[in-house]
Amino acid sequence: MSYEHISVATEQGITTITFNRPKALNALNSALLEEFARAVEAVAADEEIRVLVLTGAGDKAFVAGADITELARLDTLKAKVFINRGLSAINALTQLSIPVIAAVNGFALGGGLEIAMACDFIYASEKASFGQPEIKLGLIPGYGGTQRLPRIIGAAQAKELLFTGKMISAVEALRLGIVNKVVAPEALMDTVMATAREMAAMGRVSVRAVKQAVDNGLNADLTTALRIETDAFALCMASPDAKEGTSAFLEKRKPAFTGK
Ligand code: CAA
Repeated sequence: MSYEHISVATEQGITTITFNRPKALNALNSALLEEFARAVEAVAADEEIRVLVLTGAGDKAFVAGADITELARLDTLKAKVFINRGLSAINALTQLSIPVIAAVNGFALGGGLEIAMACDFIYASEKASFGQPEIKLGLIPGYGGTQRLPRIIGAAQAKELLFTGKMISAVEALRLGIVNKVVAPEALMDTVMATAREMAAMGRVSVRAVKQAVDNGLNADLTTALRIETDAFALCMASPDAKEGTSAFLEKRKPAFTGK
């Protein structure tokens, strides 16, 4: 598949999608969003892909938000189409059964932070910065920022960022719990890939079960959520990978998971 505004590479079961409009700080225009949706669809359809990584081209930005040049030209109806295009790609991203890591190498603003927050977790470069600056444009976030940010850092911290539109550093994002890890810029991709490889070596069935139990459980009350976990546990117990994992432990050897 050929792309103009993103690049996609797969190595040892780990796919990396790179937002690739560095001159516009990888801002999300319609063409990029359409390509991103196609790439996510292709990842969903490929059973061999075990982990997805998202990052930005160049040394300045992950994604500096929706493309303001394009946004400024849209009337209300077209703006809704634009937002829905991005939102449906992000929804598809969250529905992937494999782990998704955001490798935030620079600005993650507006829609950029919203995409990063839709990933399972974020690793950031020390040079990264984060924010929801839409308020400064007389707008509000349109890709889930008013919903995911307060769920991650709490309503009060989120409202401060959303009302002021201010940018915060990677270290501040780490303190708030937006980011799992902050590393030197040159170490970012190696660190992300090391974690990706670790996860790719696990059994596919149990990785999928963890993701579904966490995500579905978070949207349910605790009693229902615990039932979701019990059902997922039972499903894993019935898998050949669980047999392999437990046998390998007892036989003091490394498990060789087959993804079944
Ligand atoms: N859309 C379109 N172009 C953008 C852009 C964006 N979101 N962000 C940066 N660019 C462009 C700039 O216009 C500039 O282009 P030119 O060279 O042609 O002038 C180029 O990228 C480099 O940017 P700057 O010269 O501004 O770089 P800087 O280092 O001085 O500043 C910045 C960097 C602080 C990120 C600044 O570019 C900025 O504030 N960008 C806008 C961020 C923003 O408001 N994002 C939210 C968008 S709305 C949204 O995302 C809604 C939603 O939730 C869906």
